[in-house]
Amino acid sequence: MRRPKIARTVKALRAAIAAWRNKGARIALVPTMGALHDGHVSLVRLARRHATRVVVSIFVNPAQFAPHEDFARYPRSWKADLAALAKEKVDLVFAPAVEEIYPTGFATKVIPAGPALGLETDFRPHFFAGVATVVAKLLIEAMPDLAYFGEKDYQQLLVIRRLARDLDLPVKIVGAPIVREKDGLALSSRNFYLTPAERTAAPTLHRTLKQCAAAIKSGEPIDAILARGRREIEAAGFKLDYLAARHAETLAPVASVKDGPVRLLVAAKIGATRLIDNLGI
Ligand code: PAF
Repeated sequence: MRRPKIARTVKALRAAIAAWRNKGARIALVPTMGALHDGHVSLVRLARRHATRVVVSIFVNPAQFAPHEDFARYPRSWKADLAALAKEKVDLVFAPAVEEIYPTGFATKVIPAGPALGLETDFRPHFFAGVATVVAKLLIEAMPDLAYFGEKDYQQLLVIRRLARDLDLPVKIVGAPIVREKDGLALSSRNFYLTPAERTAAPTLHRTLKQCAAAIKSGEPIDAILARGRREIEAAGFKLDYLAARHAETLAPVASVKDGPVRLLVAAKIGATRLIDNLGI
C-alpha cells in the first residue's frame, strides 16, 4: 500500500497541487479533523469518483472549540488515519501544526450569518466563526475544484456553501449522505466517547427523527410532533439542546411541509457527549 504524500506547510501543499494542476488534474479536498471513520471514507470515495487527485486535510481546529469544550481530548489517531487514507489511495494528506494555520499575530475571522444563525449557534456561539475561518483558509490554500462535507453536520454544510458563494471561491461544495451504524446512530468521531450504556441509548436520536418525519408526512401539526419527540429524547436520558423542523435550504422555521423541503435537526447531550443528527423529509 502506497503511503500518501504528507504536507505540513501551506507552501508544500501548494507546490504539490500546482504540479498536479500543471498536468491538468482535477483536485478534490476533503477537510477533516482526523479520527477518521467510515463517514470520512465515504467522502474520500465520492471525491475519488469526481477528481483525479484527492487531498485530505487533518487539522483539529482549536478555533471551533470553546475553552470548556473537548479540544484537548478530541480523539486523535494519526497512524490509523494514515493507514485508512493509504488504503483509499489518497494522494496527499495536509496535516499542518496549529502555528501553520494560526501563526502568532493571526487576527482575521470569517463570521458567517444567514444559515449560521440559530440552532448550533444558540448553544455553541463560537462554532461557525471557527469553522468558517478554517474552511475559508483551507479552500484558499488548496484551491480545489471540489470540496466534500458530510450532511451529518447539515447546518455546517449550508454555512460552507454560503461562504463559498459569498466569497466567490471557485470551488464546488459537495454534500455527502450520512453514514449510519446498523442501529441508525450517525457515525461521528465523538461516538468514541460514549460509554456502553450511552451507546445503547444513542440511536434514540435517529429513531425519533424517523418517527417525527413519518408523522409530519401524515399531516399531523409539526409543533405537537416535535413536543412528543423532545419528550422521547429526554426520556432516553438526553439533555436536549434542540429538536427543530427547518426549511432544508435556508433553515428558516417551517410550520408544515407546504412551506418547502423540510429538514429535521437535533442536538442533545448524553453524559458528557454532545451528539447531532438530522433527516430530510
Ligand atoms: O466537520 C469537521 O470535521 C470540521 O468542522 C471541519 C469542516 C473539518 C472544519 O474544521
